Amino acid sequence: MRLDSTLSIDITKAATTKINEVDFDALTFGSVFTDHMLVCDYKNGAWQKPEIKPYAPFLMDPSSRVFHYGQAIFEGMKAFKDESDSVWLFRPDENCRRFNKSAERLAMAQIDEAIFLQGLTKLIDIDREWVKKGLGNALYIRPFMIATGTGVMAAPSSEYRFMIILSPVKSYYSGEVKVTIAEHFSRAANGGIGAAKAAGNYAGQFYPTALANKEGFQQVIWTDDATHTKLEEAGTMNVFFRIKDTLLTAPTSDRILDGITRKSLIDLAQKSGIKVEIRPVLVSELVESSKNGDLKEIFGAGTAAVVSPISGFQYQEHYYELPKVADSYALNLKEQLNQIQYNLAEDTFGWRVKV
Ligand code: COI
Repeated sequence: MRLDSTLSIDITKAATTKINEVDFDALTFGSVFTDHMLVCDYKNGAWQKPEIKPYAPFLMDPSSRVFHYGQAIFEGMKAFKDESDSVWLFRPDENCRRFNKSAERLAMAQIDEAIFLQGLTKLIDIDREWVKKGLGNALYIRPFMIATGTGVMAAPSSEYRFMIILSPVKSYYSGEVKVTIAEHFSRAANGGIGAAKAAGNYAGQFYPTALANKEGFQQVIWTDDATHTKLEEAGTMNVFFRIKDTLLTAPTSDRILDGITRKSLIDLAQKSGIKVEIRPVLVSELVESSKNGDLKEIFGAGTAAVVSPISGFQYQEHYYELPKVADSYALNLKEQLNQIQYNLAEDTFGWRVKV
């Protein structure tokens, strides 16, 4: 896949750069932004000419639909720099495809692939100094779209703003990740918007996650809303379970995000000869296998979190500690993923795309 630019973009460069004010060794995830952003508006049934301009706040009408009815979607992607200063994206076409699926579910305009992919490439190219070399360093990319049409009628907007902002990052979690399994709250329901990367899906998790945080857990593993017996997703990540030597993960559905890291790990695991089962995973199975010693690992997978080992889980007031395994699938798969992302190994899947 190539991202050659045929797209016409208005470019205004920042007069000065903020890069020298940033301590790249002490980054809090997603809190520092690069010098430029991409903005493209949709009105009168068409996308207007995209602009790349200095990163800055902008004005919005208080009746903009996003404030009232939550028409807001986003994506999470990363760019990586290799040892010869080339910058790489990881499966960007998948993010664009998923963005438009989210847009469809939220009754929003479809973004043109050229604006998303070529606009992104040009923006990263302008801010490429912000992509730092070295494993663990990345540029987090946040494309998003909001409803800018005005008026508080409860109906879809006819105007939208698509934007891309960039943030240099290191790891998402620092330290241990302990989780609690949802017994009451739900993240998503059948027929709902759980599979969309809708802003509201995250807002809905903040309250139960804050309760979990107070008890010392970083994340909640969400269960199915109807019975709370099936393990589905972990906050900002999809989730994998290793029982004996089989890797289990829930199938995607309209309650679960079709994670790009999730599907890449499934492919990498299968290529490494690991048995993968994509099927509903029961809470009872997890508890039973933890008690009898068959549960070896749980890990989350996502763009921001990459592959995050989970050290234990709480269920019905009991805490189950995971063993420390010598042959961790999580670490092995993370290493394989990183090798591809940072151009350290051959990419037999064709996932890496040069900027
Ligand atoms: C990502 O992994 O990119 C996500 O969307 C998680 C984000 C909410 C931090």
